[in-house]
Amino acid sequence: MAGDIRSREDVERLVESFYAQATTDDTIGHLFTDVARVDFVRHLPLMYDFWETLLFGVRKYRGNAMRAHFDLNDKVPLVAEHFQRWLQIWEGTVDALFAGENAESAKEKARYIARSIQLRLSAATAARIDNAGTPVGIGTFPVRTPGGPAVVG
Ligand code: HEM
Repeated sequence: MAGDIRSREDVERLVESFYAQATTDDTIGHLFTDVARVDFVRHLPLMYDFWETLLFGVRKYRGNAMRAHFDLNDKVPLVAEHFQRWLQIWEGTVDALFAGENAESAKEKARYIARSIQLRLSAATAARIDNAGTPVGIGTFPVRTPGGPAVVG
């Protein structure tokens, strides 16, 4: 039976195996390889730190996990389907390699973070539409003037 995620080496195995699948996936692969053109030599150690911090409570990752996704979302809007696939691959990878409390926690935390990234991105996208400077009455979006009725252009 598979053991739990217990060490940096385990985290490295998990993250590497995840990206081997994620980067060649039909639904999300292009986001890493063509859109973001991720430098994995730089990115992988950050992800090892990130998961060590989440799973073992050590202070290693000090980055801003949101920003990269805002940047990506500016290029290609990230939608529910992308997050579902990301999570499917993550959970499949965890289950293929590990079993135990930390393995469960890795899946649960990913689900929670995916949900919060998704919520914040959709709020940002909505704000961008509202603030696009479209003159009221012109354009394709319903524009609501402060205190006034919605105007459909
Ligand atoms: C649709 C799903 C997702 C896509 C397509 C995606 C893609 C990316 C990309 C392209 C980067 C930038 C890498 C770089 O060039 O440096 C990144 C960074 C990152 N992602 Fe995601 N991601 C997704 C979901 C998630 C989730 C659910 C988590 C957490 C559980 C996560 C955690 C991170 C972290 C920690 C970073 C590093 C930020 C830093 O530079 O400090 N991502 N992601």
